[in-house]
Amino acid sequence: MYRIVDGIRIAYDDAGSGSALILLHGFPFDRTIWRAQFEPLARLTRVIAVDLRGSGESDCGTGPALMETLAGDVFGLLDALDAGRIVLAGHSMGGYVALAFFRMYSERVAGLALVASHTAADTPAQRIERDAAAQAMAANGPAAPADAIAAEMLERRFAATNPTVVARVRALAARANPVGTAAQIVGMKERVDSTDLLEDIRVPALIIAGESDPFIAPASLERTASAISDCEFVALPGVAHLPMLEAPELTTAALARLVARCNATAARS
Ligand code: MLT
Repeated sequence: MYRIVDGIRIAYDDAGSGSALILLHGFPFDRTIWRAQFEPLARLTRVIAVDLRGSGESDCGTGPALMETLAGDVFGLLDALDAGRIVLAGHSMGGYVALAFFRMYSERVAGLALVASHTAADTPAQRIERDAAAQAMAANGPAAPADAIAAEMLERRFAATNPTVVARVRALAARANPVGTAAQIVGMKERVDSTDLLEDIRVPALIIAGESDPFIAPASLERTASAISDCEFVALPGVAHLPMLEAPELTTAALARLVARCNATAARS
């Protein structure tokens, strides 16, 4: 399904009923990365999985895909779908978008989950790497990065025993739109540090960390969780950067607990 939001086609899946849980994918994936979570969670509540601008079946738009732009697209889509207050879950880049959404529209957020994602901005060295990665993506396409992504984002022993998951990650990354993902790389480079938001998050929250994540130290995510007033912290052993694929049931269960906490909070108020 899709809606036109601000002139841009935004694709999504929408199932279940009740207050909405929004699933935002990371880079360079699309909404299908949540395949294992989507149906089980849609038996509990309404679930909307979104292709961010430049990914999957959504349009690219023009210029850098700033996290604020992507958050604005999500806001426009949710308005079009009459979604009201939502529980927002973002994986990695999707977490950056969720934090931008919270900064811009906190009154619409009833719960927040960061899945292998963090609040920091890029370091100067990372910003230089982003420029090179964006240029390479636009010029050469996603095939070469797809191999590196499959090798880096999955835990080594998990990858050795789960070749179909490795093949799926590689295929997902290889079909990424070079123009859209290059714009997202620039958008991630330009993102602001969101650590200042943590004390303002007064809704139920969840942080899921892969204990073997090569990009984000689990200890730093545990510190982030402790800076939020009501946050469950889940550290998954044997998991690197893709908890929804490496530990699908545990990821689904953690998101289901967040939904239940949000429902309990709504029932009390
Ligand atoms: C992602 O998985 O979305 C990316 O690793 C995020 C990033 O590059 O910062």
